[in-house]
Amino acid sequence: MNTQVQVELGERSYAVHIGPDLLSDLWALLQPHVRGSQIALISNPTVMALYGERVQAAFPETVQCDVFEMPDGEAYKSLEVYGQVMDFLMQRRHNRTTCVVALGGGVVGDLAGFVAATYQRGVDFVQIPTTLLAQVDSSVGGKTAVNHPAGKNMIGAFYQPRCVVIDTRVLESLPHREYLAGVAEVVKYGAITDVDFFADLESNVEALRARNLNYLATAIQRSVELKAQVVAADEREGGLRAILNFGHTFGHAIEQLSGYGVWLHGEAVSIGMVMAAQLCASMGLLTDSHAQRIRSLLDQAGLPVNLVEAGSNERLQVDEFIEVMAMDKKAVDGQIRLVLLDRLGHAVVTSDYDPNLLHHVVEQHL
Ligand code: NAD
Ligand code: GLY
Repeated sequence: MNTQVQVELGERSYAVHIGPDLLSDLWALLQPHVRGSQIALISNPTVMALYGERVQAAFPETVQCDVFEMPDGEAYKSLEVYGQVMDFLMQRRHNRTTCVVALGGGVVGDLAGFVAATYQRGVDFVQIPTTLLAQVDSSVGGKTAVNHPAGKNMIGAFYQPRCVVIDTRVLESLPHREYLAGVAEVVKYGAITDVDFFADLESNVEALRARNLNYLATAIQRSVELKAQVVAADEREGGLRAILNFGHTFGHAIEQLSGYGVWLHGEAVSIGMVMAAQLCASMGLLTDSHAQRIRSLLDQAGLPVNLVEAGSNERLQVDEFIEVMAMDKKAVDGQIRLVLLDRLGHAVVTSDYDPNLLHHVVEQHL
């Protein structure tokens, strides 16, 4: 069944369409957002080989569809590739009524979104996310960016799409690790905003693990609803939106110190959420049993919950780990700000924690 979630942002509001075969109905969903006769389809060779033909076939012959295939991988979410897309659009004479369509995971979506935000001061943009992570997180909310050698997502803009089209069936071709990385973000929404959704995920963990598309459609819809509510309340991350980074300060340190590429982002966030929940429990914010429920759900879903148990062959240093955490974008004047849970289903952003407890929790998990 097809459903729709609305992201309420005044005149920049938009619909997120969710359904099992939306690629078959693509033009009906996209047409209202194609003001001229040009489309710039940005994707990569992996996704184009799987879905490119179907997507291009959806556009009428009267539309000039130019395809830019960026190489696959985080390393190509760069200013260099961004510049190549800009050259391409100018060579193909795309004008201000062009519509940039992102077909792919978060890497393609983030770069294409930044292109759309800046080409001729901004053109229409549509997201067709094809990873679970992109469907429940990166395609919704308008964060667009490229990386800089000094850090991830350092250059970008808030720029909302005109609509998002989530075809759940494309998840069937996703490699299992990539799929589970998205599951970590789904669990995150339950932990930070909705205890009933968290309990529902617990009850359906087998379906989640087995990639049951019927259950996934429900879980994706709820995740998008929860993200849409947070984004509607705080589009440019003045405060509340930072709760979406639960587990991420720990996760980023794991990614950076293990060497990018060793852990997928969602895997590192899974371990990070377990560490954050443990810190909450040791501070008395969360009961031990609730912290344990977070760990169990992630574990039963098939995600890593501990670096040592997951077979990391190199022990990270606790002090270095905490130093890297202090470089997080949320830190103010070197003071770490953490997303913590004051109950299961409710998050707060705070720098009010005991550094000794943090040290102890980090030590237990490295
Ligand atoms: P990704 O885009 O690299 O995709 C993962 C892999 O899956 C790639 O090899 C890709 O080609 C392949 N793939 C994509 N769809 C497929 C499909 N249906 N079948 C088979 N293979 C498929 O990774 P990701 O996890 O989707 O995104 C990570 C990026 O998202 C990072 O750059 C991160 O910074 C960004 N991000 C952005 C936001 C935001 O709010 N903008 C939020 C979270 C993450
Ligand atoms: N992925 C975090 C955010 O969109 O704010």
